[in-house]
Amino acid sequence: MYTQTELKAHVAQAAVEFVLPQLRTDSILGVGTGSTVDLFIDALAAHKGAFKGAVSSSERSTRRMRDLGITVYDLNDVESLLWYVDGADELDPSLAMTKGGGGALTREKIVASVAKNFLCIADASKEVAVLGAFPLPVEVIPMARAAVARQLAALGGNPVLRADFITDNGCQILDVHGLQIQDPKALEQRINNIPGVVCCGLFALSGASIALIASQEGVQRRELSDS
Ligand code: 5RP
Repeated sequence: MYTQTELKAHVAQAAVEFVLPQLRTDSILGVGTGSTVDLFIDALAAHKGAFKGAVSSSERSTRRMRDLGITVYDLNDVESLLWYVDGADELDPSLAMTKGGGGALTREKIVASVAKNFLCIADASKEVAVLGAFPLPVEVIPMARAAVARQLAALGGNPVLRADFITDNGCQILDVHGLQIQDPKALEQRINNIPGVVCCGLFALSGASIALIASQEGVQRRELSDS
């Protein structure tokens, strides 16, 4: 039996093998955040001469890449990215995701929006039929926290302030428990429209292009044509 960390390492290695042949020495890769991505960065570093560098979605990933000799670029200096590689807290059959367990959802969504393709990397525990068992992270401007929380409660959720946590953007996170997300695109739009919300952890309006999922049986690819 492989442990969850071993499965994350398997999918991280598979992701490197997937993107590497598509990278050229002038390519810049979008890189997400989290424990799976940490392992992806470690595996990617062995090939740092094969591509130009990366745009990072968090201070955490930036530090890790720089420590391993991967050049990190400011997104403002980069026009396009072919791939963005990131983990997920939940992934549904439409390749919609809940993200933000690590608190980097806003920068993740920004970098992902610049990339042509999103490669989601996860172990099989992240696959669900319906999103919502994992509390949905919502980044909020601190002065709007209570007002946003009331609106999230009106949508049927139970928002809980993430304790002792400030995002890389100086904001706070409400983790919304108790949602059964039958229509992730509609809910993402609805939450995005609440004044004071910086970013909603649903990645459904623009989900993953491809997912690599590691299980005891190996790493499998999920694409929309599969569902
Ligand atoms: C961070 C994220 C991560 O991708 C998500 O939390 C998955 O993390 P891990 O790879 O540690 O399970 O969205 O904001």
